[in-house]
Amino acid sequence: MTGATGRVGRELVHELLASGLPVRALTRRPASSPADLPAGVEVVTGDLTVPESLDAGLQGVTAVFLVWTAPPETAPAVVARLAEHARRVVLLSSPHQTPHPFFQQPNRMAAFHAELERLIAETRLEATILRPGMFASNARLWWAPQIQRGDVVRWPYGSVETAPVDERDIAAVAARALTEDRHIGGDYVLTGPHAISQAGQVEAIGVALGRRLQFVELSPDDFRREMADRAPAPAINMLLNAWQAASGYPAFLTSTVADILGRPARTFQQWAVEHAEDFRAPTADG
Ligand SMILES: NC(=O)c1ccc[n+]([C@@H]2O[C@H](COP(=O)([O-])OP(=O)(O)OC[C@H]3O[C@@H](n4cnc5c(N)ncnc54)[C@H](OP(=O)(O)O)[C@@H]3O)[C@@H](O)[C@H]2O)c1
Repeated sequence: MTGATGRVGRELVHELLASGLPVRALTRRPASSPADLPAGVEVVTGDLTVPESLDAGLQGVTAVFLVWTAPPETAPAVVARLAEHARRVVLLSSPHQTPHPFFQQPNRMAAFHAELERLIAETRLEATILRPGMFASNARLWWAPQIQRGDVVRWPYGSVETAPVDERDIAAVAARALTEDRHIGGDYVLTGPHAISQAGQVEAIGVALGRRLQFVELSPDDFRREMADRAPAPAINMLLNAWQAASGYPAFLTSTVADILGRPARTFQQWAVEHAEDFRAPTADG
């Protein structure tokens, strides 16, 4: 699998190991700086931007979980290599085809996902496409630094709703898709079970921490200024455009996680309780 050291991939590793399946994880990290994966995972070194570096790791592989955050240029060569070796691929894509304003903003990643899907469709690979909406763990990326410092979160578009999906649920669906024939050809938009506004997510994190957090609404321009040293301008503008477009619309919801797993999808509130530690200030002893 690719992306094994990433947010979804780490959860997928646990899912597959718990099912007793052999897992081979690709990472760019050299042996001198290990990827910190659980015992039982076979770790191979390779890089999606250097297609020939994948050959050794692809020997004997039947199914591939494909996560692509690297530059896109080598995608045709990599997909061709996957098709030579593997029978099945599960792609972590995005809901770029979903007719909801949140997902319809022009976005380079969405265009690349469409291209990857096209490349895969041209091969004989048995494919399943996973299209998660907002990851629940974006909350950690966005708000942990502020919540570790104090009780105020400065952020725009507090009233905009999404249906954050827990990475563990994405991974659980990916594990089924890798191992069950009924998901061949599946094209799944995955969301959390409920809509929740951005301010509501901050409140849920506060509840999990036993603190009352204050959401301070920022204008888009103030947000651009405050984020200038934290993220590239195109990424910030992409988020602002999506939130602006989604203002006033109910979040897009699917029941696909529950339909596939036969149990309810995890809520954002559950995610917040399980990850509360990430929002506490680090102590001197770590
Ligand atoms: N965040 C969201 O709300 C959201 C929503 C929908 C879809 N998505 C999609 O989800 C994907 C990201 O998943 P994630 O968050 O689980 O990943 P992540 O945490 O960003 O981790 C990236 C993974 O990709 C691997 N990687 C990066 N460059 C590589 C390269 N050149 N060769 C081989 N491996 C490479 C990294 O492995 P090493 O560092 O170990 O090499 C790491 O495991 C993206 O395609 C994104 O568009 C995200």
